[in-house]
Amino acid sequence: MAQNGATPAVATPAERPAHSFTVSGTGFLKDGKPHQVISAEMHYVRIPRAYWRDRLRKAKAMGLNTITTYAFWNAHEPRPGVYDFTGQHDLAAFLRDAQAEGLDVILRPGPYVCAEWELGGYPAWLLKDRKLVLRSTDPAYTQAVERWLVRLGQEVKPLLLRNGGPIVAVQLENEYGAFGSDRAYLEGLEASYRRAGLADGLLFTSNQAGDLAKGSLPHLPSVVNFGSGGAPNAVAKLEAYRPGGLRMVGEYWAGWFDKWGEDHHETDGRKEAEELRYMLARGYSVSLYMFHGGTTFGWMNGADSHTGTDYHPDTTSYDYDAPLDEGGNPRYKYALLAQVIAEATGKPAAPAPAVTRAASFPVSPVRRSASLWRNLPAPVRAERPMTFEELDQNYGYVLYRTPLAAGRGGRLLLKGMHSYAQVYLDRKLIGTLDRRLGQESIDLPRPAGPATLDILVENTGRVNYSHAIRTEQTGLTGEVSLDGAPLTGWAMFRLPMDDLSSLKLTPEPCSGPCFYELEMTVDRPADTWLDMRGLHKGQLWLGRKNLGRFWSIGPVHTLYAPAPWLQKGANRLLAFDLTGDATDRIATVTGPIWGKVTTEREAQ
Ligand code: GLA
Repeated sequence: MAQNGATPAVATPAERPAHSFTVSGTGFLKDGKPHQVISAEMHYVRIPRAYWRDRLRKAKAMGLNTITTYAFWNAHEPRPGVYDFTGQHDLAAFLRDAQAEGLDVILRPGPYVCAEWELGGYPAWLLKDRKLVLRSTDPAYTQAVERWLVRLGQEVKPLLLRNGGPIVAVQLENEYGAFGSDRAYLEGLEASYRRAGLADGLLFTSNQAGDLAKGSLPHLPSVVNFGSGGAPNAVAKLEAYRPGGLRMVGEYWAGWFDKWGEDHHETDGRKEAEELRYMLARGYSVSLYMFHGGTTFGWMNGADSHTGTDYHPDTTSYDYDAPLDEGGNPRYKYALLAQVIAEATGKPAAPAPAVTRAASFPVSPVRRSASLWRNLPAPVRAERPMTFEELDQNYGYVLYRTPLAAGRGGRLLLKGMHSYAQVYLDRKLIGTLDRRLGQESIDLPRPAGPATLDILVENTGRVNYSHAIRTEQTGLTGEVSLDGAPLTGWAMFRLPMDDLSSLKLTPEPCSGPCFYELEMTVDRPADTWLDMRGLHKGQLWLGRKNLGRFWSIGPVHTLYAPAPWLQKGANRLLAFDLTGDATDRIATVTGPIWGKVTTEREAQ
């Protein structure tokens, strides 16, 4: 109240924040009124842009009032200082779409995001400097982070609640307590968030139940993450850690992800609906992970690792057994969760969204092909093998070549080979080394005359969890020796496969590592699924879009091709297959094909 005749300090409408969002006791206040966040996660980079609105509308229709997304640094800064916020990467447009659909947003800028995403969201080029320490207070790291966050801030600041946007809260880091306990690291990151303008609203941390103390800051709200069956124990831990504090589950894993060579996951939607009911009744705000997983198009899948030495690359499909499936259609969980939300909010559930019909289309046999051997760029030469990062290449393949003198063979050791290699002598395949299987060496026959050793290395996805992230250089990253003697004199062919326009395709059949061109004829664009069981292991492009990886070990055998990426008439498909043969075929089907299914979720 004004005293002694002074002018009352009343903010003008322009100065007054349009809305407010705060923590009060165990809950939130939105514009001063008690508010329960009922959120779920969706990642703009995993959903074709033309479908953003559709998926957001379906989120709203399930009863959600908020959506949560990470910002994916490596999608936006492909090379140091080169930024991309266009098209599929237009985060601000996605956030505006959410707002237009009446949804609030929780933004999680990481920069570490985990998320089964390449290197947990870090740009691979950070690893070029082997001395740089990811997720630490190393200035080489923190400076790169701050530069990124400041740039990100330019995109999202106008979309903060105080500026009239939908972002009601921002998460600092991501489950840091599962990684470390360095308070100075978290505080330093918080300071960077502040300087980037990302902390001009509500900031909080999120951690798994056993890590709350390690990954929280005393002055910030702290929320807990867990999956099916975890609720009583995890909420008890949060309430013991922060008595009387905010009750919120930052990630409730209502599904799980798939890894190559392992079972497809399905989780129990009834149990998840019951657990959501329990959390909401206890006054908890909740964000489900995921609402709609979508697809990790291109090269951007991560890999799981727990001990730092095990390696489990994630599939292109990020279906996640989420309420909305990879094709954006509700599965049974959607209605169960919608019902629980309707009961908790007293607002009747909207009818479940109609299913978008997928179609199948005729695909031609292979029209033309191109042998990798005949389509190599000029090599980079060095005595020792260079990593992908040293070659300024983030993703794809590198072919490492060195001559062998007559009679030189024996044990070929590729220490720290990341992450899948085919070994050839004079273009004859000798064998394969797979990091998943811990394979680092192979016996080379002794050639009678001089021979050429070729090692074609694929990055099947850098680890996104555990301390392994710090040493995820890719390619031939360690000692390379033959019968104990180092191999030197390398020619390295960079194969990022980001521009395939100069491939020399011919009508002749091709075997070995080959590109195959086929044509799909579309009468009316509709979602479709490419059945890749006729091929072995590689990558598939539809026009210029990199749809992702296929691998005959499964568990998923299809690649999702969304309708907006198809055109009426002829559509070009280009497959790169490591061990192709002339009979390679692709068909289309109307839904995903999974191999072995497990109904259990492993603990992260
Ligand atoms: C953690 C991470 C998420 C995701 C899930 C598992 O909770 O925070 O990014 O990796 O695990 O899907």
